Amino acid sequence: MSALDPNSVIAVVGAGAMGGGVAQVAAAAGHPVRLYDQADGAARAAIDRIDQGLDKLVQRGRISAEEQQALVGRIQPVERLEAIGDAALVIEAIVEDLNIKQRLFRELETLCPKAILASNTSSLSITAIGSALERPQRLLGMHFFNPAPIMKLVEIISGLASDPALAETLFDTATAWGKLAVHARSTPGFIVNRVARPYYAEALRLLQEGAADAATLDAIYRDGGGFRMGPFELMDLIGQDVNYAVTESVHHAYYGDPRFTPSLIQKALVDAGWLGRKSGRGFYDYREGADNPAPAEQPPCAPPREVTVIGTETQIAPWKALLESSGLAFQVLSGEHLSILCDGFTLRPSDGHMATVRAHRDNIRDLVLYDLCLDLENTARITLCAADQASPRALEQATGLLQALGKRVTVIDDVPGMVVLRTVAMLANEGADAVNQGVCDAAAVDTAMQAGVNYPLGPLAWADRIGLRPLLKVLKHLQKTYGEDRYRPSPLLLRKVAAGEGFHD
Ligand code: NAI
Repeated sequence: MSALDPNSVIAVVGAGAMGGGVAQVAAAAGHPVRLYDQADGAARAAIDRIDQGLDKLVQRGRISAEEQQALVGRIQPVERLEAIGDAALVIEAIVEDLNIKQRLFRELETLCPKAILASNTSSLSITAIGSALERPQRLLGMHFFNPAPIMKLVEIISGLASDPALAETLFDTATAWGKLAVHARSTPGFIVNRVARPYYAEALRLLQEGAADAATLDAIYRDGGGFRMGPFELMDLIGQDVNYAVTESVHHAYYGDPRFTPSLIQKALVDAGWLGRKSGRGFYDYREGADNPAPAEQPPCAPPREVTVIGTETQIAPWKALLESSGLAFQVLSGEHLSILCDGFTLRPSDGHMATVRAHRDNIRDLVLYDLCLDLENTARITLCAADQASPRALEQATGLLQALGKRVTVIDDVPGMVVLRTVAMLANEGADAVNQGVCDAAAVDTAMQAGVNYPLGPLAWADRIGLRPLLKVLKHLQKTYGEDRYRPSPLLLRKVAAGEGFHD
């Protein structure tokens, strides 16, 4: 372990939302902390906010009043930057502006001769910030997530010139502070802000293509995908302007790669000033007395008379368990591809093609597809879509079957890859590309997405669970349907499939 000694001084520059949180984290780990902000009284105000936040923890019995007092007492507001000269580590959390950050670090380089210099930037290049320094090897990124005392993840970012030994020190220090640290190379969006883009982008596309409304899509992501928040409510929380700006900056930084193309729907919200919770209106209406639509859900339908499940043993297992506990009569046949046949209709898992195209190709008129679930057996909601050729009865019958298995059923329009499957495929593809391009390793992708944005599973672990061959098929089908480079599979995914390996083998 090369973590900094808890007695060493940590300086935090910038006492806004992030700086205050980072100061609290360092003080909670026992460090003496110096907090500086150029705005008069801002550092003192941040310490008061920390103290008020800790009041709640004391009331809940999570810490004692003595611990609160000791923690707050370790954070010293300083009026002048010269007062942080003894710091072993300076963490900068000022305005997101390259020139201003470079100017500050140039000053810090002389003022704090022994310190490791770290920026909490979420979008600027560590290499670019460091280029202004005499000794750019001292500069790294230490990217905390908001709110810093609660969110576990810290991305440790190395620029081109950063000293690898210092990256280890920051990694070990963040770990000693109770955080989950991951290493990443300084590339646009680092890990989280890059790999998370498809969560918003695919959802926005689904909305644009009329798959379902925002409330319905959010419910599908939550109940079917196991995500803590749906993308639309999350974008409303983050702020449409902030989320749009991140997408635009990543898109620009990757020279217009269509994987990161921003959404016109989101642009319209930004233009309208419908920024989400903070402005009272976004995808949802937060004004007093506002009436937001409930997620679409199928009315009760009759259960089927006969059910046949065809597939491999693994494919059949969750269906068998569900059918057994439902008391419905069913039979099981072995076959290569999973199909559930009931009273004349066929239910199959989505594979990235539209139901209508598959129905035509396979000559099955009454074809209904279901979306990927995090855990089919225990999921609360299953999402269906039907081929255009299917009779209306087919959807009613499929609904009746799933309701008899204890599920709520939501029907969406026939879109390729449906909702969760398509999004998870794109998240995993983006994670794979980050690994392929040497940004980080596969374990870091999964840790970052679980600890940084609360995903129920890391995208690469999820890909391993689905199987990389079927996942590759989904991407190829999406690519074929849209004819867009956006859905091109990562070379690493192609390679893993060819080698018969998983991401975590
Ligand atoms: P903020 O606006 O809440 O706070 C910035 C603070 O820095 C203000 O108090 C301001 O007075 C001070 N400041 C500005 N220029 C200064 C200078 N030259 N010297 C000293 N103090 C200066 O901003 P926030 O949200 O805390 O963000 C700070 C940094 O953290 C940015 O680089 C941002 O990209 C990054 N970040 C923000 C996250 C968020 O969710 N807000 C998450 C992760 C990183």
